[in-house]
Amino acid sequence: MTQANAFKVFSDFRIATCSGEQGYELLEHHVIGVRSGVIEWIRDRAELGELDPETEIIHGHGRLLTPGLIDCHTHLVYGGNRAGEWESRLNGASYEEIARAGGGILSSVRSTRAASEDELYAQSSRRLVELAREGITTVEIKSGYGLDLDSELKMLRVARRLEERFGIRIERTLLAAHAVPPEYVGRSDDYIDWVCREAIPTAVAEGLCSAVDAFCETIAFSRQQTERVLQAGIDAGLKIKVHAEQLSNQGMAASAARMGAMSVDHLEYLSADDCKVLAENNTVAVLLPGAFYCLRETQLPPITALREANAKIAVATDANPGSSPMLSLLLAGNMACNLFQLTPQEVLLGMTINAAQALGLANELGSIAPGKLADFAVWDVEKPAELFYTMGHNPCVMRFRGGERIDELVD
Ligand code: NIG
Ligand code: FE
Repeated sequence: MTQANAFKVFSDFRIATCSGEQGYELLEHHVIGVRSGVIEWIRDRAELGELDPETEIIHGHGRLLTPGLIDCHTHLVYGGNRAGEWESRLNGASYEEIARAGGGILSSVRSTRAASEDELYAQSSRRLVELAREGITTVEIKSGYGLDLDSELKMLRVARRLEERFGIRIERTLLAAHAVPPEYVGRSDDYIDWVCREAIPTAVAEGLCSAVDAFCETIAFSRQQTERVLQAGIDAGLKIKVHAEQLSNQGMAASAARMGAMSVDHLEYLSADDCKVLAENNTVAVLLPGAFYCLRETQLPPITALREANAKIAVATDANPGSSPMLSLLLAGNMACNLFQLTPQEVLLGMTINAAQALGLANELGSIAPGKLADFAVWDVEKPAELFYTMGHNPCVMRFRGGERIDELVD
């Protein structure tokens, strides 16, 4: 029996199960039995009984244990940076103006295409290490700065290498429909044809992605074009998600929800009626306060309507070189509270069970329950709210994936 298959016990933790229905659901002085990387049982310490003296025990000393955090929306793999463009925006240029002048996403496309796979891996691994330190065990990474076959596949291969090296679970999403590349200027429909007929089938055939995403916006793709990409993804057996209603209302979030999207992301311009469509279709609303903050957006996502509709909410970094150069999920949580008035409880559920659902992984991840994978974060805090209360502080002391410590791999 290998180490990974051994039975082990996580003893004396305060557990926020994040099961979803009862909020945090805090269990004091509880013990978790883990076999072969999967949670077998959760018991009160007082009812534990005798353990086999050979059993490996991880002692919590009453510390808080949560599901490993999930950053369910990132663009972590890219070449270069856009600090110069950020400076231009502070000197008065808008995000849209920069994009229309060939900067923005296309500027990152140039640096990503120019980088070798090894260079891209080296740059991206530094970012992943920083991000993951804050209790993260799963990260979604999108392509979308390649926009040609070689470069899109290169980005996805880098994401796969990151998973192999660091032990973080990485969900890979093809975002070839992120912008119209220079080769297709004025021919966006032809580019969408290429995405549907070539990019999606090739990425699937090479086993490089489990989901497809697209950017529906006046500066990107129309609703009709986006729907074609999502349908091609469905036909190829992929999960679907979409960047929607970030800068304007295109009605894309509701349309994607009706098509079976796992999540719809950004949503500042989502209408109250469309919040109901998300809830009806069990599509998660992923909020990205880092992009809201960096673009100095003033239109708030419809939090009250999402709550009234009972829609599931997740929170992610959107880590990317343009709209959200952010490598801290805890800071994204703080922003979600202070800018969007989410509660710390909504934010923690939004980085655990609801984030797992946004990735289509809620059966395996996102809460502490028998049958789920033993992905845990252990924190030196009294209350869950402290995770998001202090800006620029990381109270994570241990991380486990499938019951195995992964801090050493990352730090
Ligand atoms: O999620 N909205 C579109 N895509 C990214 C930004 C990409 C960029 O500016 O490089 C986002 O905000
Ligand atoms: Fe994004």
